[in-house]
Amino acid sequence: MKLRAAHFVDAQRLWARHMHMAKFGATPRGGVDRQALSAQDIQAQKVLLEWGSELGLVPATDAAGNLFLRLTGSEPEAAPVMTGSHMDSQPTGGKFDGIYGVLAGLEAMQAIHAAGIVPRRSIELVAWMNEEGSRFAPGMMGSSVFSGTTKLESILSVKDQRGVSVQQGLAEVLAALPSLPIWPLKRPVHAYIEAHIEQGPILERESCSIGVVSGIQGKRTFSVALQGEEAHAGTSRRCERKDALMAALQVVQALSALCNDAEDLVKFTVGRFQVKPNAPSVVPAQVEFSIDLRHPDSLVLQSLGDQIAPLCARNAGLCTATVRELSNARSLEFPQTMRDLIAGNAQTQSISCMEILSSAGHDARYMHTVCDSGMIFIPCAGGISHNEAESANEMDMANGARVLVETLLQLAAS
Ligand code: HGY
Ligand code: MN
Ligand code: MN
Repeated sequence: MKLRAAHFVDAQRLWARHMHMAKFGATPRGGVDRQALSAQDIQAQKVLLEWGSELGLVPATDAAGNLFLRLTGSEPEAAPVMTGSHMDSQPTGGKFDGIYGVLAGLEAMQAIHAAGIVPRRSIELVAWMNEEGSRFAPGMMGSSVFSGTTKLESILSVKDQRGVSVQQGLAEVLAALPSLPIWPLKRPVHAYIEAHIEQGPILERESCSIGVVSGIQGKRTFSVALQGEEAHAGTSRRCERKDALMAALQVVQALSALCNDAEDLVKFTVGRFQVKPNAPSVVPAQVEFSIDLRHPDSLVLQSLGDQIAPLCARNAGLCTATVRELSNARSLEFPQTMRDLIAGNAQTQSISCMEILSSAGHDARYMHTVCDSGMIFIPCAGGISHNEAESANEMDMANGARVLVETLLQLAAS
């Protein structure tokens, strides 16, 4: 009797690969700081390519810096099935956010190889460039350019805090990797499945091993700049000051009040806050801060987001406020057919599963615009993520890969 591919998923191998990848950007407190297009990101890409070549997978990249590993099917000209996630992290990230989807995808391909199965459609593993948006904002650059939502030109000139552009970063990666074929952007994909840790507490609380993701809540990101004027801290009178910091505090207070809903569904975050010239005896001339705004209801998100610019202007005092919207993504729902496929593959393997909305953003958002897409969640301890204490367990990780591999094979046969 031919064993199913899921039988060849090896929990220890999958765990060991996570611990190996966690060395690249390891932080003293057990987390990971692996910024997009950084030396640590390059280390991770090199190792992924090595593991892929051991399996005979065909490597490639594209103009947006996404990395692909293809398991060629019996009909190589048919549109492939794709799986993957991202390898970049937040500055105080964990060992599992993003990388789990890449390594679970590799584990699935290794299991297919071990089972001696040749799928009809090729199956491709992808590591998307800059999902997190921590070094270069906004995030999800690789998947949004691949899917055609964002133009390549619009990301190349984006710079990090040190003034290094995405274009320079991409060139550094390309120079460091072995020469790879450059595949076209926006090429046809039959279906996409992304495995990811939940980054929330629900699966663990419900003692459920698999989350069948129903959709992703909407998200809008902004950059706000308050422009005032430098002045001497000892001689300038308060009534004449154009103090950008005091103006920013007023603005953030007003935004926080706007987003303080009784249901606690509005997610409003000011994660980055920069003061210039940032000198103790100089009245701040400029403050620039980020806004990450999310809500499951697109109408509420639209209404709240549209109030940000006028509210900043009203509370800026003697300073001027400039608001730039960086991204605006509505809530989305994954096709029921994909959710049924994932749930079916959990149930046939007696793995507990439940439907769950993703409150975090993922590259699947952009793949959803070009092909049938779905997501598989696994629990993470305490729902902690974007935090060095992030953790997941071997059994859930392997269960996620077992559901993933059977789903990929069904999609590759369809
Ligand atoms: O921010 C997010 O939702 C994702 O984890 N980058
Ligand atoms: Mn992620
Ligand atoms: Mn993340």
